[in-house]
Amino acid sequence: MRNIAIFASGSGSNAENIVNHFKGGNIARVVLILSENEDAYVLERARKLNVTSIHFSLEELKNGKILSTLKYYSIDMIVLAGFLKLFPQSIIEAFPQKIVNIHPALLPKYGGKGMYGDRVHRAVIEAGESESGITIHYVNQNYDDGGIIFQARCSILSDDKPETLAQRVHQLEYEYFPKVIEKMLREGY
Ligand code: GAR
Repeated sequence: MRNIAIFASGSGSNAENIVNHFKGGNIARVVLILSENEDAYVLERARKLNVTSIHFSLEELKNGKILSTLKYYSIDMIVLAGFLKLFPQSIIEAFPQKIVNIHPALLPKYGGKGMYGDRVHRAVIEAGESESGITIHYVNQNYDDGGIIFQARCSILSDDKPETLAQRVHQLEYEYFPKVIEKMLREGY
């Protein structure tokens, strides 16, 4: 049984989906949900799901406190699901190829600092793209920049708004993110 920690800054619907995917199985379990945003709904979800939740400061992310916590809970894999801050080098080095992020577009386009949530979908629509999708990738010291593990695509409809495209992209996230994490755990990283 492997131990997963999820970092999220907002709603946490992906976090909940991943918890439920592994619940009752013998491959992995989500043992920690962490957020730098004390008002993030993901912390409320964690309580309802009976997963240990931790609110931390950005100082604690950088000064080793969160790294110690991850070691204390014997974390094998770190999942960023709507986590909007840069990860520190110290944690990246301690978990080589074991930190994955999901991005709601087809990287390398429409990524980088400030590109999250509806901003991404608005930029994709305004650019006149015919398709968008999701990218699951390793995390490095830059925003949305590590090696790509998996992508899935969806069409953009002529009357799409950021909210409607977001819904379609979210469905792809719910379908594929847990499966990709499970495959990585089963087959090695
Ligand atoms: C997800 O769509 C995820 O791809 C995106 O934040 C959303 C979080 O939704 N991440 C980024 O934009 C990272 N740059 P959720 O809180 O409902 O899971």
